[in-house]
Amino acid sequence: MITDVRRLNAELDQISEYWSPRIIARVNDQYVKLAKLKGEFVWHDHAEEDELFFIVKGQLEMQYEGRAVTLNEGDMHVVPKGVRHNPVAQEECWVMLVEPVETKHTGDVLADKTRSLDEQLAGTGLEGA
Ligand code: NI
Repeated sequence: MITDVRRLNAELDQISEYWSPRIIARVNDQYVKLAKLKGEFVWHDHAEEDELFFIVKGQLEMQYEGRAVTLNEGDMHVVPKGVRHNPVAQEECWVMLVEPVETKHTGDVLADKTRSLDEQLAGTGLEGA
């Protein structure tokens, strides 16, 4: 089945809550997610999952222990599995994420920013996929 065109800017425009990823598609065993980021997230890692960030708008600093990577609009970056990281956006930043379906976005850290997969799937039609 041919899926609908997903207009990332228009869909991101609809998101009102920061750090609350919305799942927009499943590609094999990966979810594609959109999120608006602002401020500092939380230090965490994903033991078994690489995590892809594509910057749709704005700027994101990916902090690692001892260094940081600055990402601008149009940039893509993969956070390797098992590496502690902390995304920080000084101003509002729009991102597309690609990560395995089992990935918890805060890793094993339970923070007030943690959103369950059910919350990320709400309203997508992909529930239970
Ligand atoms: Ni992460």
